[in-house]
Amino acid sequence: MAIMIQDGTIVNSSELFKGDILIEGEKIIAMGIKLEGRAAKVVPAKGKYIFPGGIDGHTHYALPLAGTHTAGFATTTAAAVGGTTCVIDFSPQPFGMSLMDSIVKHRAEEAESKAAVDFSLHAMVMDAAQQRIFEELPALVKAGVPTIKLFMAYKGTPFMCDDATIFRMLQACKKAGMLMMLHAENGDMIDVYQKQLLAGKKTDPKYHATSRPPVVEAEATARAAYLAKAADCPVFIVHVSCTEAMMALRAANLEGVNIFGETCPHYMVLGVENLAKPDFEGAKYVCSPALRESRHHDQLWRAIENGWLQVVGSDHCAFNFKDQKEMGRGDFTKIPNGAPGVENRLAILYTYGVLTGRLSLQRMVDVFATAPAKFYGLHPRKGSILVGADADLVIFDPEYSGTITVKTSQQGIDYNAYEGLSQKGRPEKVFLRGELIVDKGQYVGKAGQGKFIERQPYGAAYRGRSVRKMPPK
Ligand code: URP
Ligand code: ZN
Ligand code: ZN
Repeated sequence: MAIMIQDGTIVNSSELFKGDILIEGEKIIAMGIKLEGRAAKVVPAKGKYIFPGGIDGHTHYALPLAGTHTAGFATTTAAAVGGTTCVIDFSPQPFGMSLMDSIVKHRAEEAESKAAVDFSLHAMVMDAAQQRIFEELPALVKAGVPTIKLFMAYKGTPFMCDDATIFRMLQACKKAGMLMMLHAENGDMIDVYQKQLLAGKKTDPKYHATSRPPVVEAEATARAAYLAKAADCPVFIVHVSCTEAMMALRAANLEGVNIFGETCPHYMVLGVENLAKPDFEGAKYVCSPALRESRHHDQLWRAIENGWLQVVGSDHCAFNFKDQKEMGRGDFTKIPNGAPGVENRLAILYTYGVLTGRLSLQRMVDVFATAPAKFYGLHPRKGSILVGADADLVIFDPEYSGTITVKTSQQGIDYNAYEGLSQKGRPEKVFLRGELIVDKGQYVGKAGQGKFIERQPYGAAYRGRSVRKMPPK
């Protein structure tokens, strides 16, 4: 039975027009003007925007950290109500296990039969001493996993990799067509700062930011660019938080290095004042890189509007304040790093980007859905409204007005990082491969409805420099 979404404003990264979309089964089978009489069911969308379902390429639904664990895949309903129809989750590598087995384990034990939206997985190196990690990339690509994350930070934990590991892995990525995603912060410098702060009894959450200033991120980003240049392999910097790192990335890109990057909503609307909240509440905002001063906000909005950063991911990493974040009372270095946000990515981009004139609707769709699909190997199946693509669609009501609060949140934890911020517009209906999973803003799907999606290697980063050259404003 075909469904027609009628008379909405269809927004792709490449065009915007009023029209209709015809869905049959899991796919979009037509789009255009006045497709009347071709569907048994009509969904009116006059006055609404229709966006491609969001792709959130940066979630941690099952991250073991500091002896605890994030809220799991059952809470992917939060992605759905936030307009995200596909998440790509990082698969931690247990000690001694191959990357491939870590993916198989993560998929079976954490995601399958729980996911409310489609999902894929990134490999994530946490046992760099294993020689085989450099050799298993072709097998990962074959399994539909063409992306891998390495960390330059978190010294003293299994996450941190040295430059030799990163460089060798870049060489291996190039051979396999994989995209390396890098957490770019200088772990050695952070370790020195942390020890000095703790020795001076500076233990509150706000010192998390003091221990990892912008220079720490800028240095690592510039180093990542040199490593990528030497390996002649693309690199993708995740969660860019500050002007200095963004500029280092942009400078290297203009020099011809295939370096690209993501920022996150929390770096564009939250700041160091959140970390300084009394009664240890600042711990809710401890994530890495750290929240910055407000001078960085406009620069990051400018970077995504101009294409100097290409993707906005949530870095969703949901720990409860009670008992989890609280593990770091008296020592900010023991607070599990991460902030929730999968549910609010579109709301923040629309309310604080589009409606303030900092971001065009089409750029919003690009950073929210199309560019992540292209970089991570999901396009054209997902990320754009196209004939033949999965019918992952968001019918967005621009008239909605509300306040973000944990009281209505689906994220499964006891706080929302954006608590109290006003929100304009919301996904009214969301379709996942042609099935209605959100109606009137509420989740109406079935647990386990999300499918594992195999992705393709040689994504957009391999197609050369895509940073749009625009004169600075
Ligand atoms: O603080 C963060 N970002 N936690 C999740 C792990 C990571 O570095 O992405
Ligand atoms: Zn990271
Ligand atoms: Zn992350």
